[in-house]
Amino acid sequence: MNVSASPTALTLEQKRALYRDGYVVVPNAVAPELVDAALARIRRAKKGESLSGERAMTDLVNASSVTPILHEVMGHFDPPTHCQIGVNKRAEPGDHFNNLGYRDRDMPYYGAQTHMDGLITIAAPQEVQEGTPEEIYHRYFASGPKGDLGRSPDVMGHNMVPMFQDPGMTLGNGSFTAFVFVCLNDQSVEGCGQTALLRGAHHAVERFFRRQYDTNGHLGPEGPGWPRLNHDAPNRCGLVYLPDEVREQFLDETSEATPDGRRWPRPTQILMRPGDVCITSYHIPHSGTRNEHGTESRKNIIFRIRNKRRQPDKVANGVSDHPDRGQMGEWLEYEEGNDPWERSKHALCNMWHEWQGMAEIVAEERAREAAA
Ligand SMILES: [Fe+2]
Repeated sequence: MNVSASPTALTLEQKRALYRDGYVVVPNAVAPELVDAALARIRRAKKGESLSGERAMTDLVNASSVTPILHEVMGHFDPPTHCQIGVNKRAEPGDHFNNLGYRDRDMPYYGAQTHMDGLITIAAPQEVQEGTPEEIYHRYFASGPKGDLGRSPDVMGHNMVPMFQDPGMTLGNGSFTAFVFVCLNDQSVEGCGQTALLRGAHHAVERFFRRQYDTNGHLGPEGPGWPRLNHDAPNRCGLVYLPDEVREQFLDETSEATPDGRRWPRPTQILMRPGDVCITSYHIPHSGTRNEHGTESRKNIIFRIRNKRRQPDKVANGVSDHPDRGQMGEWLEYEEGNDPWERSKHALCNMWHEWQGMAEIVAEERAREAAA
């Protein structure tokens, strides 16, 4: 296999972009042979078959230059055994309520539901909810796959993410270090189902987590400044995927609104071609978008990578957004003195701590910011 055209490390300019924007697109990071093998496997898939653990998919990281790039810029990690198959068929705007509690067709930017990863999602109620906020909250979380457990870290979403990571319910989101989005089809024109990112918002998210930590040590939804549900949404039961304090920092004259007048920051659609890869910090708010204008299904293979230093004795599978717990929310054993929730809170409040190859750039950029 000829991988000579593939880069094996980010350039300094790419690292500066990663620091500034929270993401970087690496053109041709995956060789055409690997792209073709993954596409062939997708074509061969039977209806309903899961390709998450297929080698043709995990090789997009394990056998490509993504691995040396990540080793250099981030550090070591478990080779992914699984991934998320982000295949989105062409679709028209829909009338259904989305997870934010809005009609899909009313949501700007091709239906983007810009969110942080590692958050519980239960199927959105399709009827406008009645009752008090407390009643709506109770009904919503009782409608998950495990039934009515009340407010509990054992509550799981339909996306198999726990409501809280820790028994003390002080950590409302799972976390990892890096996202890797591998592009398998032409996404060079907007509106083809691209991954969309809120460029630069990773800094604001880190600041927000720090403020939460300083306030009472509770991070994520149900911590300070981040209610779980938005009862002002049209269905009265929308998930708050991004705290208002962060959302409002990214509103500008280009921001579009839903019919209720609420304005939403404009995300950047990531334009890529087959073999291109987008690497981001965990901290970047992001979303898939509607494939409204594509001529084929949008195909991004998505990996969630965690630096091995977070929990050296645990294996992260490459797809989980909550590896402090098992994939299905199982409680894992940790040795004496290893508080996984505190480690994850530290990582959330110190975004670049797990990016060893970014240390110099971070120091350089922070010195520049201090001087300015
Ligand atoms: Fe996500």
